[in-house]
Amino acid sequence: MRILSGIQPSGALHIGNYFGALRQFIDLQRENDAYYFVANYHALTSVRDAEQLRALTFDVFVTMLSLGLDPEKATLFVQSDVPETTELAWLLSTVTPMGWLEKCVSYKEKIQQGLPAEHGLFAYPVLQAADILLYDADLVPVGQDQKQHLEITRDIAERFNRVHGGGQEVFRLPEAYILEAVAVVPGLDGRKMSKSYNNTIEIFDEPATIRKKVKRIVTDSRPVEAPKDPETDSLFNLFRLFAAADDLAEVERRYREGGIGYGEVKTRLGEAIIARFAPAREQRADWLAHPERVAAVRDAAAQRARATARVVLDRARAACGVG
Ligand code: ADP
Ligand code: TRP
Repeated sequence: MRILSGIQPSGALHIGNYFGALRQFIDLQRENDAYYFVANYHALTSVRDAEQLRALTFDVFVTMLSLGLDPEKATLFVQSDVPETTELAWLLSTVTPMGWLEKCVSYKEKIQQGLPAEHGLFAYPVLQAADILLYDADLVPVGQDQKQHLEITRDIAERFNRVHGGGQEVFRLPEAYILEAVAVVPGLDGRKMSKSYNNTIEIFDEPATIRKKVKRIVTDSRPVEAPKDPETDSLFNLFRLFAAADDLAEVERRYREGGIGYGEVKTRLGEAIIARFAPAREQRADWLAHPERVAAVRDAAAQRARATARVVLDRARAACGVG
């Protein structure tokens, strides 16, 4: 199957991005033909400093490599290295009703957060549809918050096929792949972990920073001996993601019976996070010491991605009469 997904370089990646997205990317690269990219065109809707965008694009690319995305198995590229994307976005926008974009929750949320109501932000889902349709993707691994964008992608593809396909399928219809169990990773304040809430633990935060941030996780004020509800406690829900099975069972039992303090769980969680990402931290140091290798991976992937994209774009151009 053709797998495809992207991640915006709008900040350093955090453990919500890891469990909600990157871990699936890594799992799916083994048995499939996977395409993953750093969505820097999309990030332009929020990052307005050229140097910063370049640096973040590089950082996210290296983060993906360090975590185990393997350039031998997957095509790991940068979105803007395939400018065909923006041409397809235009073709798609000509069949996209305004109403579909007006009902997008992510647009409304971003406006509420204070981002200016610009056309790029409004048309963001059309660019995302172009990303997906350009590679004939079958399956798109994403977090829960991207579900609506995947539905719009399918709607746009169906509509283009209907308007311009003449009975032929111009675009393949993709499916979202969302793991419900890790649908939302909580942040330090108990809300969804997100760059925009300033409640993240970054994958490559320094160990000292991780220990410090974990201490800030909000809990109630129950004393050690009191029984506690693991289901509703975001500290436990984070611990669950990192703990080995026997540690998890032990902590869960002591939550329910009483006899465990939040301080102990925080200490254990901090060490578990540091240990989990230690090998990736080493990989990262290695990539950072060899930027020319990063550039070589990026160039080779861009060529592969462009070759795939060209075929689909030509099909779309021919179908609507501009090629
Ligand atoms: P952020 O909210 O920090 O800006 P993005 O919107 O850039 O994160 O998300 C990138 C990917 O990571 C998406 O697939 C998204 O669904 C996933 N993701 C982000 N935050 C979380 C979270 N807290 N829990 C699960 N998945 C997440
Ligand atoms: N909108 C996605 C996010 O914020 C990133 C993205 C851009 C994407 N293009 C994509 C995800 C194509 C999947 C497929 O997380």
